Amino acid sequence: MMVDPGHPDTVPGQVAAVLRDWLASGATLEAAVTIPSSEHYLMYPLHVASDGGFSIAAAVWAVGQRTPIHDHGVWGVVGIYQGLEKEVHYKGDAGPSGLSGPLEATESNVWSPGDVTVCCGGDRDIHQVSCNSDIPCVGIHVYGGDIGRIERRTFDRESGASKLFVSAWASPGR
Ligand SMILES: [Fe+2]
Repeated sequence: MMVDPGHPDTVPGQVAAVLRDWLASGATLEAAVTIPSSEHYLMYPLHVASDGGFSIAAAVWAVGQRTPIHDHGVWGVVGIYQGLEKEVHYKGDAGPSGLSGPLEATESNVWSPGDVTVCCGGDRDIHQVSCNSDIPCVGIHVYGGDIGRIERRTFDRESGASKLFVSAWASPGR
């Protein structure tokens, strides 16, 4: 099921349209930014705006890897490049001390190559993403900020308790 990527007049809606066209064009990423790690999922920087206003990442999951449940604090658009990406959204508006658990899943999708979705932002900002294919999953993620530097939260599903984290940028070739 495709989620409406937002009204075309919104920034995420416009980003989604461009990303959908790029994926449909058959353009390819450099192989170096599609290589998974056996330890954890990776976010390779494809572009970070000099003023930190937006960033584009190649997000790479090895088979079986997943993120914790987390938020973003900025809008995000995801397009699938390779493999299948499972995304589960959770209900809640993250406050400073977390949420009351157990967290309630509100929507679950498995995204395929070429699919584009507005994943994050506003009151729909908490999700968990995993590789749902038998090959590594690669997504192109665009965020309304420098996602490698923004302090955000992970959540414990049972208690709703949150922890602050910053997701580091990976270095291609290392
Ligand atoms: Fe996310």
